[in-house]
Amino acid sequence: MVDQAPCSSARRRHLEELRSCAPVVVPSLLLCDFANLEQEILRVEAAGVRALHLDVMDGHFVPNLSYGLTIVSAVRRVTQLPLDTHLMIANPERYLEAYYEAGADIITVHAEAVAKPADVLRRIRELGAGAGIAIKPGTPPSAVLRFADLCDLVLVMSVEPGFGGQLFESSALGKLRELRRHMPREVLLEVDGGINDNTIGPCAQAGADLCVVGSAIFRHRDYSARVRSLSSLAESRPLDHE
Ligand code: DX5
Ligand code: ZN
Repeated sequence: MVDQAPCSSARRRHLEELRSCAPVVVPSLLLCDFANLEQEILRVEAAGVRALHLDVMDGHFVPNLSYGLTIVSAVRRVTQLPLDTHLMIANPERYLEAYYEAGADIITVHAEAVAKPADVLRRIRELGAGAGIAIKPGTPPSAVLRFADLCDLVLVMSVEPGFGGQLFESSALGKLRELRRHMPREVLLEVDGGINDNTIGPCAQAGADLCVVGSAIFRHRDYSARVRSLSSLAESRPLDHE
């Protein structure tokens, strides 16, 4: 039996919008200038992005500590863009309600961080958010294929989670192709880590709908030019198979 997601809440409507515009560039708020967070968000909004990727890290599940609910709430106050919230934390099931209340539209947990992914994905949907499940480079797609009817997004990490500015791991391309082949078309595929001018095209071609980009935007001066360049590279590569 396919679990019927609750009627499409406003937050879940973002999923359809993102799917219809795919492939899209989604800026990752990890390497941005946090001393000027509102300005940084307005700059990438002006660049025409359709969502923001928020990298929540707890220093336990990953060897880095970034930010949590306070920043998610603050970002919610300054933008209407969908907040694609990547929880790189242990025991994420304890915080689902809190991140939903803070304004997360998509809540993605790591398959490696939860004992019962099906329960967690169901709970995220019950709250009214998009339910995402992420896999690290060392985790095979088979770890998430069985949740095909419970998730709205699968996040394929193309770097070890924890830091921006790392090198792309090309093993992600085979995973994207396999997931695209076997997951229902309405499930969004997201790739995250080391996405730049050289890697975004192959990722889109392999099936990525959402391409998360950190350093290839925020380490440059002109965010609009970067988003335009990356978007055109993604759009120029037709999907390997329809
Ligand atoms: C890493 C994060 C990524 C990262 C992307 O754990 O999940 O979103 O910030 O940064 P770049 O694009 O620089 O690899
Ligand atoms: Zn991320």
